[in-house]
Amino acid sequence: MNPMNPLKAVRGTRDLMPPETALWNRIEAVARSVFGRYNFGEIRTPIFEDTALFARGVGEETDIVSKEMYTWEDRARAQSEKTQSLTLRPENTAGVVRAYIEHKLGETGQLQKLFYIGPQFRRERPQKGRYRQFSQIGAEVIGPAHAGAESALRDAEVLEMLATLLDELGIEGWTLKLNSVGSAADRPVYLAKLKAALGPVVGGMCADCQRRAETNPLRVLDCKVPEDQPIIDGLPRIGDSLDAASREHFAAVRAALDAAGVGYTLDHRLVRGLDYYTRTTFEFTHGGLGAQNALLGGGRYDGLSEAIGGPKAPGIGFAMGEDRLVLTLAAQLEAQQAARAELADVYVAPVGERQNAAALALARELRRAGLRVELGDGAFRVKKSFEAADKAARAIVLLGEDEAASGMLTVKDFATAVQTKVPRAELANSLLAARAETK
Ligand code: HAM
Repeated sequence: MNPMNPLKAVRGTRDLMPPETALWNRIEAVARSVFGRYNFGEIRTPIFEDTALFARGVGEETDIVSKEMYTWEDRARAQSEKTQSLTLRPENTAGVVRAYIEHKLGETGQLQKLFYIGPQFRRERPQKGRYRQFSQIGAEVIGPAHAGAESALRDAEVLEMLATLLDELGIEGWTLKLNSVGSAADRPVYLAKLKAALGPVVGGMCADCQRRAETNPLRVLDCKVPEDQPIIDGLPRIGDSLDAASREHFAAVRAALDAAGVGYTLDHRLVRGLDYYTRTTFEFTHGGLGAQNALLGGGRYDGLSEAIGGPKAPGIGFAMGEDRLVLTLAAQLEAQQAARAELADVYVAPVGERQNAAALALARELRRAGLRVELGDGAFRVKKSFEAADKAARAIVLLGEDEAASGMLTVKDFATAVQTKVPRAELANSLLAARAETK
């Protein structure tokens, strides 16, 4: 007997196995296909980087950098080598911008449109939809200002691409939340107002807010503690501190989204948890995810390149939580399957009241063969029969004068939208076979 306990995957990490891995691959294939159509190319950066990249890029005072990073001192292997502080990447935007600078991509004069798919690491408290190793599918658009990297059109194009991607993935019921946090010049103006307003009220807020009011006051707006909400609602809004250029930029993003027919809701408290954001910020949320309801997040970061020692290179991007896409799609699939299991196998629709008696005979035949059958009424118009059938059954069979005379029945399968002619004698078997296939 082995006296040792078997080893397990580390807390917050997990094995992905079939059949679930098929869904992961499908999501990645759809993402690659959409990125391709929007002319993005793939970038693969290292999984660990110099710790300073995240401290300077994401921000020393953020939760990610101050509490959640996997950081270690890498030992020197030789006298000539120095020890170095390294960190498993908690996100990929800083790494992509580092690569942009390192490979002098700005000198091409072109916008760089890069996407990535891969693991990220944060030491968060694990729960549904929140892991310590998770996968992001993200994309970044970066370039010199003269290549149009600052244009509001880029923001709108990225958001429109995301709407398309979520639709093509089959995610139903997502919401786009949109805000502008202003430029680097707007920030001190707003922070001064926010600090002044927090001064007299912060003592009555939660411990996290009291700490944030000192270290990173913008993050107070993120607080979810119910008792703090009336206080937060009374704080100044960032939108009221934007200068004319930032206001125009945000108006142009919204106008382009309106023109493209991409719906959104404005959320003046959407400040996001990374320090590099300027102007547009956004999240796509989904009700089915519970507390961790953000499917993805992103925004503009016009000063990030300079913050990590590069040239001016405005950019905008996003990262989707692939684990959360999988959870959402799996739950949707389960709900669809449960709904389908409740449906009748077929709806028999007589066309005209004169076919009612024949329809009853046909329904009897099919029920005797073991099928679950809903019987319509020839008094209904064909359109109404189709609508009723779509709600009640997986397929409809029409029985009109022609069908009665020829013995060839028209069957439409709602799941595949395929319409076929089936000889009456074969109908029961063909419906039984269709049922077996969907189980
Ligand atoms: P983020 O909001 O920190 O942004 O993460 C983006 C998405 O990654 C989240 O909306 C969520 O779906 C997923 N995610 C984050 N943490 C976890 C976790 N512990 N477990 C599972 N999923 C998680 C960024 O990372 C920015 N780099 C996005 C960006 C790109 N902004 C501009 N460009």
